[in-house]
Amino acid sequence: FRVPEPVNEPVRDYAPSSPERASLEQRLRTMSGERVEAPNVIDGRDVTTGDTFVARAPHRHDLELADVHAAGRDEVQQAIEAALAAKHDWSRTPFEHRCAIFLRAAELLAGPWRDTLNAATVLHQSKSVLQAEIDAACELIDFLRFNVAFAQRVYDEQPQSVAGEWNRTDHRPLEGFVLAVTPFNFTAIAGNLPTAPALMGNTVVWKPSEKQALSAHHLMRLLQAAGLPDGVINLVHGDGAQAVDVATASPHLGGLHFTGSAAVLSGLFRKVGENIDRFRAFPRIVGESGGKDFVVAHPSADVDRLVVALGRGAFEYQGQKCSAASRAYVPRSVWQHVRDPLADLASSLTMGDVGEDLSTFMGAVIDGRAWARHRDAIDQAAHAGAEVLVGGDPDDADGWFVPPTVLVTDDPRASTMTEELFGPILTVHVYDDADFDTVLGEVDQAAPYALTGSIFADDRRAVARATDALRDTAGNFYVNDKPTGSIVGRQPFGGARRSGTNDKAGSVLNLQRWVSPRVIKETW
Ligand code: SER
Repeated sequence: FRVPEPVNEPVRDYAPSSPERASLEQRLRTMSGERVEAPNVIDGRDVTTGDTFVARAPHRHDLELADVHAAGRDEVQQAIEAALAAKHDWSRTPFEHRCAIFLRAAELLAGPWRDTLNAATVLHQSKSVLQAEIDAACELIDFLRFNVAFAQRVYDEQPQSVAGEWNRTDHRPLEGFVLAVTPFNFTAIAGNLPTAPALMGNTVVWKPSEKQALSAHHLMRLLQAAGLPDGVINLVHGDGAQAVDVATASPHLGGLHFTGSAAVLSGLFRKVGENIDRFRAFPRIVGESGGKDFVVAHPSADVDRLVVALGRGAFEYQGQKCSAASRAYVPRSVWQHVRDPLADLASSLTMGDVGEDLSTFMGAVIDGRAWARHRDAIDQAAHAGAEVLVGGDPDDADGWFVPPTVLVTDDPRASTMTEELFGPILTVHVYDDADFDTVLGEVDQAAPYALTGSIFADDRRAVARATDALRDTAGNFYVNDKPTGSIVGRQPFGGARRSGTNDKAGSVLNLQRWVSPRVIKETW
């Protein structure tokens, strides 16, 4: 059999007065008023612990969305045991039946579940409706559909046979269980990290971010509704360090699928290293972490495209994408035409209650810690001599709001040019036009990450020079486009250096990490 040819899910625009908008508004209203219980789900059973934390809307301190039951060590251990118990049957469930479950989940999400996942992402992660739609609906549907096609390609990879000898590869899942630890900023990533290994026959313990618990809760329900057998994915809420601690104490940890900060990814490598002689097999680690993503303009850059790319790249989803543009290098001749339009654009962006007014461009940053970090970073940059061109005045009266902020600095090694902030703060370094090649070297050296970046130039030689000089500086490199918004099947996503293991989410490269092939040679 062949799996269906995947196509990208079209993005809905939720135009005023459209039935789609009315339906989503209705779901946002009910979800705002319902305050659900979010249990752990272990072996298909809801497991409450009584040790709850409240899921709140970042843009409305008074809006309580869920009581989330944090797993203790015992529940994490139960989840591991459930995953191990489910492994035999699931790993022997034929591919056609495994993939049918995820394809069904994609169809349910494209249809009746779409509003639920979008509303949860708007309310608990403070995404604008458009940002939720391209994430919790489209990208997650795309991951589910395309991964099936990528998996097929993994299974199709077979060795040569010769007369008298039949060689074949049995693409076994990894031994043991996989731990998926997922971030708050993309519901799609939270969905991809447990489902990609599960599609390949692995069973999974899934620990979502506490700050994304509501969409994780609904996503788990969606997978159950799609027919996922008990124990294949086990959801445990709460403390990530504890989940990692319990998982790395098990000899059966077979793999880790992680997206989050570089510091946490380093900690995971360390934990696995410390326990390395305990495991039956060397665990597979697939991790995506931070970025300090750049936009470099050449004197030949198109000003209008550059301004839009900076505005969208830096401020969509409050800059909380690992791909967000956070440092820009602009030549003086171009800057004089970019400065005012960029300031106008940044000050015109609307910010507020994304669940109430669906045309709001930005919500709040994820929590009080992030808010204080951004406030301090802006204060320190200004103190160190940066110009605050626009923004720079965080307000926490109703929610954790940080306005779109543009800093301009003479110092290419200023801390906001080199450290990941994960907020709506763009720092621009203005350079002398003649220094383009020097600046390319600076872009490469200034930060330890290598996730995304863009070159803006109409001069083809400049594009070629940047593409070569920045070869190791980004896993996703954009020419005359913003550095955000990769699409499954079109821009496989991931970076190297301190940005991760570069196993390209949304590609066959990622799916093949979840198998441990056995080669069988048979002679007649
Ligand atoms: N894939 C997302 C983007 O490209 C980030 O995770 O923006």
